Amino acid sequence: MQLGIDLGTSAVKLLVRNGNNIVSVSAPLSVQSPHNYWSEQDPEDWWQALLEGLRKLARDVPLAQISAIGLSGQMHGLVVLDDAHRVIRPAILWNDGRSFMQAAAMAKALPDVGTLAGVPPLPGFTAPKVLWMKEHEPAQYARIRHILLPKDYIGLRLHGALATDPSDAAGSLWLDQAARAWSDRLCAASATDIAWLPRLHDGSEVAGRVTPHAATQTGLPAGLPVVAGGGDAATGAVAMGATQEGGRFISLGTSGQVFVARDRHLPNPGKMVHAFAHCVPDHWFQMAAMLNGARPMSWFANVAQAGIPTLLHEAQAGESGRTPLFLPYLTGERSPHGDPHIRGGFYGLEDQTARGDMMRAVVDSVAFCFADAFDSIGNDATSQPALAIGGGAQSDYVLQRIADASGQHLERAAGADAGPAMGAAKLAAVAVGDLSISDLSLRPDAEAHFAPRPDTTGLLDRLARYRQLYEALKPMREV
Ligand code: XUL
Repeated sequence: MQLGIDLGTSAVKLLVRNGNNIVSVSAPLSVQSPHNYWSEQDPEDWWQALLEGLRKLARDVPLAQISAIGLSGQMHGLVVLDDAHRVIRPAILWNDGRSFMQAAAMAKALPDVGTLAGVPPLPGFTAPKVLWMKEHEPAQYARIRHILLPKDYIGLRLHGALATDPSDAAGSLWLDQAARAWSDRLCAASATDIAWLPRLHDGSEVAGRVTPHAATQTGLPAGLPVVAGGGDAATGAVAMGATQEGGRFISLGTSGQVFVARDRHLPNPGKMVHAFAHCVPDHWFQMAAMLNGARPMSWFANVAQAGIPTLLHEAQAGESGRTPLFLPYLTGERSPHGDPHIRGGFYGLEDQTARGDMMRAVVDSVAFCFADAFDSIGNDATSQPALAIGGGAQSDYVLQRIADASGQHLERAAGADAGPAMGAAKLAAVAVGDLSISDLSLRPDAEAHFAPRPDTTGLLDRLARYRQLYEALKPMREV
């Protein structure tokens, strides 16, 4: 029995895999945004949410029977610690855009950064955030002795070691992706002492063991092995069997991704494709990463004060009516624009427009983002249908719209909502000999198939206009 812990943005998810049996629970998290562009969480809240999740889990699973733990988490976040491993300031998250000037400075200082680090610098990545701290919070910057990625802070609290894995390290902009090692040049360009960075372990390697103190706090047995795990994109891939060349899937969580596993480092910086090290040995991946996955749907549900299922129903019921256009860039966008300044907006509202029409525009914008993402990654005609995971993949309507807009065959994976937590549990299973590395490439069963339909609703015309709308609104950005 292995436990996967996925530190998401909106919740910590815990999953226990026991052969074919799965138990999962979650505990919610909130995001603080005290200023435009800012997105932060207090690492102590992550720990408290984990404790809450473990208390819930203990009702159904004897924690003493867990044989190993795997970690997964939101990528790119900056956790800064002092010499006593105390947190210096709230974590600066993956969707925080404040360090756009520092990202531009890194790009200028290192013309080959997009190839070396696997992607051109953008403010959401970890390294430019350190440069931002140096300029804006010099007293706190002077106290930095260690840097961790979000899930690795949970690791520290569990086992006391400063450790990470190649896939989470990959999203920092400090990793030489081809060499799978920290890069002096990338550190130097971001005012980062390489000695602050944690030790690298493969995802299924044991990074530490639960300490007696953590055992008392959590109810987990002391001495339990904790594997390094992976960033949520890579652990999602492990859950979907995307660990060998060509294995692919899409993820529709708060953020969105189109992911393809590779057997070598294949950078494509022009399209803002992320070419990162995988959490399994000797493998890499290419990923089109959107800051706005299914999040625009929950955002609109919040604004409209209605449930997502109700709004999806209204959107579908009015499908023959006119649909406005929506740009979903609520926190800027990474792939394909690399634009931290763009913001969302509706265009084409009319006197008759109802909230169902607006929801349809929001759903279409999600589909258009995925069409752009598939275009950036390149369409391999021999590929199997892409499996879909994440909260947004629960809706047939949404997956059908993505298939229609992108021209791709999609499948919803059985257990699609488990995703990264399942991947983390599988990496833990490798460490204790329950699975082998090659077992990780087994594709889960699909429970539904979505084939692209002929364009009967003018969707592709709208996709072209959606792309023009971004270009038209670019000059309106507030920088
Ligand atoms: C990937 C990315 C997201 C975050 C949050 O590049 O930014 O997957 O890890 O889920």
